[in-house]
Amino acid sequence: MEATGFAVAIMAAGKGTRLRSKRPKVLHEVGGRALLLHVIAAAKTVAQPEDIYCIVGHEAERVQSAVAPTGVSFVMQEPQRGTGHAMQVLKAWLDTSGRALPKHLFVLSGDVPLIRAETLTALRDLHLREHAAMTILTAVPPDPTGYGRVLRVAPYLPEVLGIVEHKALKPDQLDAPEINSGIYCFEINELFSRLDKLSTNNAHGEFYLTDIAAMLVADGLRVVAHQAESADEVLGANTIAEMMHLDQAMRSASARRLMSQGVTIFRPDTCVIDAEVEVGADTIIEPYVQLLGATRVGSDCRIRSHSVIQASVLGHNVTVRNGCILDSAEVADGAVLGPYAHLRPESRIGPQAHVGNFVETKKVSLGRGSKANHLTYLGDAVIGEGVNIGAGVITCNYDGVQKHTTAIGDGSFIGSDSTLVAPISVGSGAYVAAGSCITLPVPDGALAIGRGRQENKEGWAAARKARRAEKK
Ligand code: UD1
Ligand code: CA
Repeated sequence: MEATGFAVAIMAAGKGTRLRSKRPKVLHEVGGRALLLHVIAAAKTVAQPEDIYCIVGHEAERVQSAVAPTGVSFVMQEPQRGTGHAMQVLKAWLDTSGRALPKHLFVLSGDVPLIRAETLTALRDLHLREHAAMTILTAVPPDPTGYGRVLRVAPYLPEVLGIVEHKALKPDQLDAPEINSGIYCFEINELFSRLDKLSTNNAHGEFYLTDIAAMLVADGLRVVAHQAESADEVLGANTIAEMMHLDQAMRSASARRLMSQGVTIFRPDTCVIDAEVEVGADTIIEPYVQLLGATRVGSDCRIRSHSVIQASVLGHNVTVRNGCILDSAEVADGAVLGPYAHLRPESRIGPQAHVGNFVETKKVSLGRGSKANHLTYLGDAVIGEGVNIGAGVITCNYDGVQKHTTAIGDGSFIGSDSTLVAPISVGSGAYVAAGSCITLPVPDGALAIGRGRQENKEGWAAARKARRAEKK
């Protein structure tokens, strides 16, 4: 079976009027990723990035810069006069680009994001096996309202008569159950040679790509349909409500995938887990946890309720107590966080280290077994192993203009409520007395005391009482 010569066109030029949003439709996110990026990821399983033609128009620059790192090619459609027009513009672009034409063309919609790689390969295989000019991906959703319908020659036969848009359905066709997903595979020459014949004689006054189906049939060519296993996979995102339905579908798919890999997720319906997230076996995720972006969590961890972990990497045996917020942090094996710890970007927490209640870290490395358990801010600091940071310690890293670094050596003890005014260093095995304001470097093994000396006035309270009694 020939499996080469495939290119993909992704239609992503439309405005998405029904969303009532300033943001282009294909940049709205489901499952933590823009719609269009989901579609591109699926497209990459059937074509090389440069053979993926992304058709952009509405807010083209914004769309292009958001997906440029994927390496796809861009085709400008301006104005947007319908899905058939999008193909006319693609043809003109390919004609002038001097590129060799692919033999087959997948057409995907930028707003149908749940499409799976397996479904595209099944569509491709049927297309080749049936020697079809056009193969249409269809589905039977609970409610087909609004979608174009695919009319078959006879039930259970692959051959199709044509596609009728919802607004053009005759009364007796209104309950036709099989919808057009807007995803197709074409013999490119058969498609391109008929684009001139499309008309705008329809409800929207647009060129409909769907009209090509009946044209091919009229010319005696094969048009076949492949029904997707699950209708969810081809649902479009035309409104925010539809988008959130897809988001939920994608998130529960992520949770199911992790559970099948040995992760326990209590109340998975309450957790928000992005598609790229990886979690090791025997990790326990409590209700109302969010794992976002490219987060990776090791095995045997426990993530307690209300923690939000974004783009972070956690080792094995890590405990994240309730209410922690992690953004682009790295946490080594056996570390314990929270409750209510806030790890900001470039926080590197060493093995068995503790970051406790109401501790904020930013651009910090905390060495093996070091502890900052209460009410602390650690920013721009390099902290060694076995260091004890007392309650309320603050690294004063900002002088109003620049950020400065604090260095603390192995085995040091920083007393509670001390401020370390950076740039500053505390040597190894040193002590800082509680309540100190440290502005000079502390040598190895020294005790630094940087506070007003305490004075006790013996008998002062009784003397005051006596003075007050005299006045009365
Ligand atoms: C389309 C199909 C319909 C199908 C449905 C599935 C047509 C005429 N109808 O309808 O049969 O059931 O998809 O979701 O094709 N786009 C462009 N340029 C344009 C117009 C649209 O790039 O000029 C893009 C849009 O950005 C979108 C996609 O094409 O990503 C589909 O367009 P949309 O307007 O959403 O079509 P539907 O009305 O959903
Ligand atoms: Ca649509």
